[in-house]
Amino acid sequence: RHVNATVLRIDKLAPYFKGASVNTILFMTASFVLVSFFFLYTLCKAMYVSPRQNEPPLVPYWIPFIGSAITMGIDPIKFYRDRQKEYGNYYTYILFGRRMVTCLGAEGNNLVFNAKLADASAEEAYRSLTVPVFGKGVVYDVHNSVLMEQKKFVKAGLSVENLRAYIPMIEMETKNYLSRWNKKSDVQDIHKAMAELIILTASRCLLGEEVRSKMDESFAQIFHDLDGGFKPINFLFDDLPLPSNRLRDKAHVKMRHFFIDIMKHRRDTGKVDSTDVMQYLATNCQYKSGRSLTDMEVAHIMIAMLMAGQHTSSTTSAWAFLYLALNPELFDKLRQEQIEILGSLDAPLTYDSLKQLTLHDNIVRETLRLRPPILHIIRKVVRDMTIPGTTYVIPKDAYVQCIPAITARSDEFFENAEEFNPYRWKDYDLQNKERDDDLVDYGFGALSASARSPVLPFGAGRHRCIGEPFAYVQIKTILATFVRTFNLELHNNKFPECDFTTMMVQPKQPMVKYTRVDC
Ligand code: HEM
Repeated sequence: RHVNATVLRIDKLAPYFKGASVNTILFMTASFVLVSFFFLYTLCKAMYVSPRQNEPPLVPYWIPFIGSAITMGIDPIKFYRDRQKEYGNYYTYILFGRRMVTCLGAEGNNLVFNAKLADASAEEAYRSLTVPVFGKGVVYDVHNSVLMEQKKFVKAGLSVENLRAYIPMIEMETKNYLSRWNKKSDVQDIHKAMAELIILTASRCLLGEEVRSKMDESFAQIFHDLDGGFKPINFLFDDLPLPSNRLRDKAHVKMRHFFIDIMKHRRDTGKVDSTDVMQYLATNCQYKSGRSLTDMEVAHIMIAMLMAGQHTSSTTSAWAFLYLALNPELFDKLRQEQIEILGSLDAPLTYDSLKQLTLHDNIVRETLRLRPPILHIIRKVVRDMTIPGTTYVIPKDAYVQCIPAITARSDEFFENAEEFNPYRWKDYDLQNKERDDDLVDYGFGALSASARSPVLPFGAGRHRCIGEPFAYVQIKTILATFVRTFNLELHNNKFPECDFTTMMVQPKQPMVKYTRVDC
C-alpha cells in the first residue's frame, strides 16, 4: 500500500516530467533531497558557530546568530553564575554572532584587565560605541600610547587642589537642587534626580561656569541627544542608520563647537582663574612630542569625561540611596558621623573633613561592590591568547570579557555576600596599607600590578579609571548634603530590581519616599 501511495504521488508529478520514466523521477527526487540536505547543512554550519580546538567550552544555543543573547540579557548575573557552575571559570557563548569568551574568578579578572596590548584591544572592542560620541583623536580613536598620555593629563587636571575647590560647588548645587523637594514628605524617582544632579555638578566642576549656566537651556538638550547615542546596540553594530544616531552626530558637532568657543573666549578675554579640567587641558598639557592639545582634542576629551562619569556616578548614587532607604537606621548614623567629625550639621563640607567621613565612604564602597555600574569589561582578541594554567586558547577575533561583579558578589570572598553591609569595610584602609602589591605605571601614575582583588569597580591595568577621586568627592558630597535634610524609605517597601538592558546596571522603578528631617 505504501509503495502504491508513493507511485501515486509520483504520478501526480508526471505532468512536470513529461516522457520521463518512474526511475528517472525517483533519481531526480532523491538528488533534490540530497542537494537540499547539503544546502541546509552548509547553511547551518555557516550560521552556527562550531567550537575550535582548545577553545573554552561553547555554551549550546538554539537560535543561530542570536546565540545566548536572550538568556544572558534577561539576567546576566544568573547566566554567568549558572554557566560557571557547569563549565568553570572559562567558557564561550555566542552573542549576535560574536564569540564572547568569559573569564571569571580573580584569575579571570586579572587575565582581562592585564591582557597584553599585543593580545587584546579595548580600542577594537569599544570603538563603534564611543568614537561617534566622544569624537576623533581621543580615547579609543588613537593608539593606546596616546590614550595613556591623555589619561595622564586628565588625572593631573583632577588635582587635589581642584577637588578641594569642587566640594563647595557640589554642595551648593545639591542644596539648590533639593530645594525643589519642598514638601514635608513626597515620592520621587531617585535615579532621575541623581542623573540631573550629576550632570549639573559635573558640568560645573569639570567644564566651568559657562557650561553650567547653559545647563538649564540649550546644553541640556545637546547633552540629551548625545547621550541617546550611548546605547548597547551601538556597541554591537557599527554606525546603524537610526534616528537616535543622527541626533547623536548633530549633538556631537554642537557640543564640540560649544566647548571650543568657550576656550577661545577665555583666551580672548584673558580668563585664567578657572579650576575646571577643560581650562587645565587647554593651557597646561603637552604630548611627549612637545605638541600641545588642540582645542578639538580638548573638547573631545571633555565630552568623553562627561559621558564616562555621567551614568556610572548617577547609577551609583541612586543605588546608594536605595540601599539607605532599605536600611533607614543608617541616616541617623551618617548624621552622627558628621556631627562627630565636623562639629555640626551646618558646618561646610571640605576635602579634609570629607576624607574622615568613613561611614559615608563605606556606603559608597559597599554600593559599588554590590552594584558596580559597569558589568562587562570587554576586549577584542587580536592574536590567539593562551589562558595561563589551562590548555585553553582564545582564538583571534573573539571577544574576551570579565565580569568583576561575580567575584564581588560571591560568598567565596565575602560573608553573606548579597547583603548590604557598609561595616564590612571598617578596616579597609588598614587592610589596604598592609597589602604589598608590586606597582606598575602605564604612563598615568603607579597602580597595583595585580588585578586579582575580588572588587574592582574602577577596573585595573592600563584601562583603569582615572575618575575615581572625582567620583568619590562628587557622590560623598551629595550624600553628606542630602542626609542633612532628608530621610528616605522605599516606596511600597519594594527594593528595585536591576535593569540590565541599559549601558549601566540601573534600578527599575527607583521610587523613594522622602521625609524632611526637621518635620
Ligand atoms: C575607565 C568605572 C567614574 C573616566 C573605567 C573603567 C571602569 C570605570 C570599570 C575601566 C573600563 C575598562 O577597563 O574597560 C567607573 C565608575 C565610576 C567612574 C564605577 C563612578 C562611580 C568616572 C568619572 C570619569 C571617568 C567621573 C571622568 C571624570 C574614565 C576614563 C577611563 C575610565 C577616562 C579610562 C578608559 C580607558 O583607559 O580605556 N571607569 N568610572 N570615570 N573611566 Fe571611569
